[in-house]
Amino acid sequence: MGPVAHGGHCVARHEGRVLFVRHALPGERVVAQVTEGCDGDRFLRADAVDVLSPSPDRVAPPCPLAGPGLCGGCDWQHASLAAQRRLKADVVREQLRRLARLDVEVVVEAVPGDDEGLGWRTRMQFAVGPDSKLGLRPHRSHQVLALTSCPIAHPGVEATGVTGQAWPGVRAVDVVVATTPGADPGERALVIAESASRKRPALPQVDAALAVTGVHGGLDQVRGRAFVQERVVVGDWQHDFRVSGSGFWQVHPGAPAALVGAVLAALRPQAGEQVLDLYAGAGLFTAALAHAVAPQGAVLAIESNPRAVRDARRNLRGLPGAGVSQGRVESVLAAMLPSGLSADLVVLDPPRTGAGRVVIEQICSLHPRAVAYVACDPAALARDVAYAAEHGYRLTGVRGFDLFPMTHHVECVALLEKTGSDLR
Ligand SMILES: C[S@@+](CC[C@H](N)C(=O)[O-])C[C@H]1O[C@@H](n2cnc3c(N)ncnc32)[C@H](O)[C@@H]1O
Repeated sequence: MGPVAHGGHCVARHEGRVLFVRHALPGERVVAQVTEGCDGDRFLRADAVDVLSPSPDRVAPPCPLAGPGLCGGCDWQHASLAAQRRLKADVVREQLRRLARLDVEVVVEAVPGDDEGLGWRTRMQFAVGPDSKLGLRPHRSHQVLALTSCPIAHPGVEATGVTGQAWPGVRAVDVVVATTPGADPGERALVIAESASRKRPALPQVDAALAVTGVHGGLDQVRGRAFVQERVVVGDWQHDFRVSGSGFWQVHPGAPAALVGAVLAALRPQAGEQVLDLYAGAGLFTAALAHAVAPQGAVLAIESNPRAVRDARRNLRGLPGAGVSQGRVESVLAAMLPSGLSADLVVLDPPRTGAGRVVIEQICSLHPRAVAYVACDPAALARDVAYAAEHGYRLTGVRGFDLFPMTHHVECVALLEKTGSDLR
């Protein structure tokens, strides 16, 4: 097996063809079974179904449903946590080298206190099988693999009792576990059933607040409150956030604090500075930065999802200088740039596709002192770093965070500055 590529598979060659092999590790000899592709395709996908010479990094997967053809949720359970983090760093480094022509040292850090990489997923989406029982889907499959527990799920997911129930008339079930649980089950977790038809399904009893979506296209509250409350503490700063329905919130319980800490450390905001928080969600970075630049500074959050904007407005109420603008980042910036928008600092946390050329050019045209780019896809990050370089912004620091242990996913916080010292 060759190195791990972006996407988490090992790259191998067989009779002149490229194979992307899952469930393998670099340096191993395996028997690979082709799962996708045929003669004439540029590459084939395959699973390592037998390991002939195992890597020293190989371990027994903690989950009995991890492996070829089984649950598609985790793809790296067969690697030690230390190896997972090393391989993720290799992937980030390789993407920056290939797409941004940068040779950068990258370390992927554990979330503080996460020693096992298990029990961290506070947001789960279960599929519903033909028997109405909950399960997860195998990789690139429509099948549903029934399960009663998942080792990467936060213990609060199982505590709701969703997996022991039948969900007739439901297409999918989302479980959202609050990281700052209240005493009442309705405050500890929210279960959202996605109706399979226009009819509201009869829903089972669960130990959580309950809501249903898809009936009128909106979110119908069935029992309890249709949001969770999250508390983030970084140093002597703390803030409570409300997140509605299955709206975006970092999935690992330690992720919000780790990312806020990294963004603050990278940007070093000063009192009185003007800040933009792009793709702001429920206002996580906005709140922290508003505190840091108070009392004369200001932070403008830009977010397109109306429900997230409602949450952000509520979460930022009473914070002097914090404001929210609803709309797509590229449109809001295009509308505001001609009227003299200014920013000393920018934080952006776009979805997997990244910010793209237009937004990067808009940011650079503001001449911010520093830009913190929070990225869940290292390829999109590296592409955008290259766009920023065309406008004089250099990558001066990058940290990786293991926010998704047991999977190939990795989060990065990159610092871009107009001038400055060498890479830290
Ligand atoms: C990765 S989340 C980050 C949210 C927030 N920074 C956090 O950490 O909680 C990305 C957010 O961008 C929003 N979004 C996606 N595309 C957008 C766009 N073109 N313009 C504005 N917001 C967008 C999504 O609704 C989502 O809330």
